[in-house]
Amino acid sequence: MSDTAALYPPPTALAAKAHVSGRAAYDRLVAEADADPEGYWGRLAREYVGWKTPFTRVLDDSRAPFFEWFNDGTLNASWNCLERNIERGLGAKTALIFEADDGAVTHVSYRQLLVRANRIANALRALGVKKGDRVVIYMAMSIDGVAAMQACARIGAIHSVVFGGFSAHALRDRIADTGACLVITADQQVRGGKQLPLKAIVDEALAQGGCASVRHVVVARRTGAAVPFQAPRDLWLNELVDGQSEHCEPEWVEAEHPLFLLYTSGSTGTPKGVQHATGGYLLHAALTCHWTFDMKADDIFWCTADIGWVTGHTYIAYGPLMLGATQIVFEGVPTYPDAGRFWKMIEAHRATIFYTAPTAIRSLIKAAEANEAVHPARYDLASLRILGSVGEPINPAAWTWYHQHVGGGRCPIVDTFWQTETGGHMITPLPGATDLVPGSCTLPFPGIAAAVVDETGNELPWGQGGILVVKRPWPSMIRTIWGNPERFRKGYFPEEFQGRYYLAGDGAIRDAKTGYFTITGRIDDVLNVSGHRMGTMEIESALVAKTDLVAEAAVVGRPDDTTGEAICAFVVLKRPRPTGEEAKALANELRNWVAKEIGPIAKPKDIRFGDNLPKTRSGKIMRRLLRSIAKGEAITQDTSTLENPAILEQLAQTN
Ligand code: PRX
Repeated sequence: MSDTAALYPPPTALAAKAHVSGRAAYDRLVAEADADPEGYWGRLAREYVGWKTPFTRVLDDSRAPFFEWFNDGTLNASWNCLERNIERGLGAKTALIFEADDGAVTHVSYRQLLVRANRIANALRALGVKKGDRVVIYMAMSIDGVAAMQACARIGAIHSVVFGGFSAHALRDRIADTGACLVITADQQVRGGKQLPLKAIVDEALAQGGCASVRHVVVARRTGAAVPFQAPRDLWLNELVDGQSEHCEPEWVEAEHPLFLLYTSGSTGTPKGVQHATGGYLLHAALTCHWTFDMKADDIFWCTADIGWVTGHTYIAYGPLMLGATQIVFEGVPTYPDAGRFWKMIEAHRATIFYTAPTAIRSLIKAAEANEAVHPARYDLASLRILGSVGEPINPAAWTWYHQHVGGGRCPIVDTFWQTETGGHMITPLPGATDLVPGSCTLPFPGIAAAVVDETGNELPWGQGGILVVKRPWPSMIRTIWGNPERFRKGYFPEEFQGRYYLAGDGAIRDAKTGYFTITGRIDDVLNVSGHRMGTMEIESALVAKTDLVAEAAVVGRPDDTTGEAICAFVVLKRPRPTGEEAKALANELRNWVAKEIGPIAKPKDIRFGDNLPKTRSGKIMRRLLRSIAKGEAITQDTSTLENPAILEQLAQTN
């Protein structure tokens, strides 16, 4: 931040009533946490979480970095999200305002959500699903999607939600890795006026093999389309739940019992199943909703993420429900029937807190600039009081537009930095306490010991860019990678830092004067495209799996105005390098292939064909050179170690 950077202080009236009110209150919380981390987290865990058996131990670090929190306490996540609210008198309060793709709206009260979750939970139990079993949920945004997650939590089954945009192949890999006994899906999903398959993709995934653990596929009816049905494996959700009791005794689990697995990409290997524990995760989900979003009894919260991502877990399926809030759940897409959909829904439902991704904002800016009718100015957005951003850096221009045109200049924007692995917000403004600077996620959430260090783990002075780490464990941190504890230890608590620090995988710099953090991007081979995280290796593996065509592939990211980053693939074919129309046709074939192998979100935007790739004499692909070519930059780096320097010019010319 320079001296001239705009500063947006918290609005006075909002700050006066905020849960964390004023910078001094923030500083006090940080000081409390720093002085006695266990005392601090223990106090909050008693305040924010309902326990069946109270814990007596806060942190158990005897097996570090496999940290355990509150591990002699027992609880149930679904009881915390549902009955606990009903006992507080919120049974009739609306939990979910579900808006379907076609605009149909359904209100679901806390009591109704409990009944639905209980019936599904009883049905799962009747099918033999027990504590610790894995259940894969492959559904779109829906009431049953949320209820199914709650139902699993209720009986101690570990859910693993797979985003409905992933392909059969990607779904198969996740089912196989979890060893799930059951898959919950729907006949179809509806997005942007189109009916898209779900059940058919589950069938295809299971047919690919390696999923012998799956005994049943439970199918919710969304569109009523005829779908292939395989008795006795396949069962209709409604038929299963109809006869079930609306009561279901929760399975009281230890705080460390896994609540869910969620697959995410790393720089190497296959996607990893990030494992979260029940107690610590719920604490942070509730606490961050309370402090970062300042969620209150009369708020209408809307997080636009999908339940297939971590944001949809923490800020739809668990956090808002922990607080007894009312939230909007949206089935559709921001551009259907037109790019005013978000603004129309905020107006219609009187949303007060709106949480979305920079990619969505950037594409809606473009749409509003092209068509005045979908500009937020055309809608009444006066109900809004807080805005949020998540998933990727928000560029100052998009921030300012969001602030002015969506927030009417009066709503603080919380730019929340966090990750699948962290369970909830790590570095974020608090709306009543933090002065905002566009493009900075500002300061650590109280209790999170974020720091910027060099390669050996020494903390760097403010103003110097380096590696983002977390110096102390926190309750909602990743517990392990499912089935691969060594990958967890090596990847997140590396030897370079003597295994002491959590490595986020991002670079960061702190402002020389304020200490505010700015995230400078991933320091590994992970790409962030439209807020979706993908490993370059995964895409490369998908490309070379097309063995009849592809000899070699290297994937890098390049900046993109709308999607943040775009995927750029350099491909060597098993036939002469194509040009012109042939190159276009082959590039399309490869894009569709990647969509089939992983999902449409992984389709490379650019594909460049070469006779070879730039390699060192020892055969290592020089990715930094490819990054320059992808960006269209002149190559200024030293290329003297290259085996085949002439290839650079060829790759730069093809597009
Ligand atoms: O690079 C950071 C970026 O997204 C990564 C985490 O991706 P994922 O696990 O899919 O979780 C996304 C939703 C929390 C991070 O390593 N990222 C996330 N939020 C921000 C961000 N980069 C900059 N600013 C953010 N607010």
